[in-house]
Amino acid sequence: MNILLLGSGGREHAFAWKMIQSPLCDTLFVAPGNAGTASIATNVAISPTDFEAVKALVLEEKIEMVVVGPEDPLVKGIFDFFKNDKDLNTIPVIGPSKLGATLEGSKEFAKEFMVKHNIPTAAYDSFTAETVEQGCIFLATLNPPFVLKADGLAAGKGVLIIHDLVKAQEELKNMLVGQKFGAASSKVVIEEFLDGIELSCFVLTDGKNYKILPTAKDYKRIGEGDTGLNTGGMGAVSPVSYVDAVLMEKIETRIVKPTIEGFQKDGIEYKGFVFIGLINVNNEPIVIEYNVRMGDPETEVVIPRLKTDLVSLFLSVANEKLDEITLEIDERSATTVMLVSGGYPENFEKNKTITGLENITDSIVFHAGTKLDGDTVVTNGGRVMAITSYGDNFQEALKKSYASVDKIQFEKKNFRRDIGNDLL
Ligand code: AMP
Ligand code: GLY
Repeated sequence: MNILLLGSGGREHAFAWKMIQSPLCDTLFVAPGNAGTASIATNVAISPTDFEAVKALVLEEKIEMVVVGPEDPLVKGIFDFFKNDKDLNTIPVIGPSKLGATLEGSKEFAKEFMVKHNIPTAAYDSFTAETVEQGCIFLATLNPPFVLKADGLAAGKGVLIIHDLVKAQEELKNMLVGQKFGAASSKVVIEEFLDGIELSCFVLTDGKNYKILPTAKDYKRIGEGDTGLNTGGMGAVSPVSYVDAVLMEKIETRIVKPTIEGFQKDGIEYKGFVFIGLINVNNEPIVIEYNVRMGDPETEVVIPRLKTDLVSLFLSVANEKLDEITLEIDERSATTVMLVSGGYPENFEKNKTITGLENITDSIVFHAGTKLDGDTVVTNGGRVMAITSYGDNFQEALKKSYASVDKIQFEKKNFRRDIGNDLL
């Protein structure tokens, strides 16, 4: 079958790498893709949120399945667009409906969903410009640090953690009245601070059945020792060594099951990935967020550990037969180290020539912000590429990733040297 994958990051290169290994995949199109996907699939220069252009491509190329990488097209309703179009409604879209995607599109909606279905989450209240004074009073009743979350999508930047009450009250006003994050912060969720270790749980569901994918941990801050600004993610490790069977059982019974049952009770159509962001507080997993897609760079360590055919897995999702599949997981560890443009996550330059890729033998290079300039691979974003390796343990895998990192060069290359150190 011909398949269309939407997106252009390392996550999408990892999906593409896995999907083309399937005998079920004839031609794989990626829109818009990057230099990495161009080397293994057919890139098409259209935006994943231009649904009419996506439709034209799907009909022209006789595409029989659409896999959605990022959240944007999902939150904008690509699943419903296909379902409600008579030319497209037989073509499965891997991703949730617009209502399902609201779990990521609105923090308040996610909180209400969790409270309704008894899913453990931090205590919260939400405020608008009209209730900003009540918000300031509410902040004064909490213990620091204060967690302020823009309700809508803010490119991963909408969460502020502030230690000082007066500053937190100022920022609340900036968000609600000053539109710090535009429309995304016209509503703000104020949440209890959870002190613990973060971890991500990835679930694939057909709306009734689900499969829990390998655990992974990412490293969000730009600086070593988890310092500096938040990024999309600077590296990842799978599995996460401290997640034992007891903790996993709690995550499944208290969080995963009620989430999937919640979809059914609330009539939420959901055929795709659920990324549950958790904080482990004294061995009690508590949800801090839902994302309606896979994580990036977590995908670059989770997908390489999946032995099961990804296309057949997606077909089972589409046909609601996920219960008939047994996931096969590679026992080895996988790690990835993200190479980023100097200056990221603030201002950075693009179009830097990348050299040394041909010397990589012990790792898989998943491109993120890259493009082809003639035959030359050049940088085209903040996060440039994820260097993934396997090992019998994560230390061995990391050694390979870092050896490969040293072989790849571009001007102002930056990366963290301490991925996985907290797991030692
Ligand atoms: P989110 O966009 O919800 O993932 O939040 C971004 C980051 O803020 C998370 O990765 C956590 O590090 C942190 N965070 C979010 N909510 C909380 C919370 N309630 N307590 C402590 N840290 C939080
Ligand atoms: N790595 C975190 C995310 O994809 O949101």
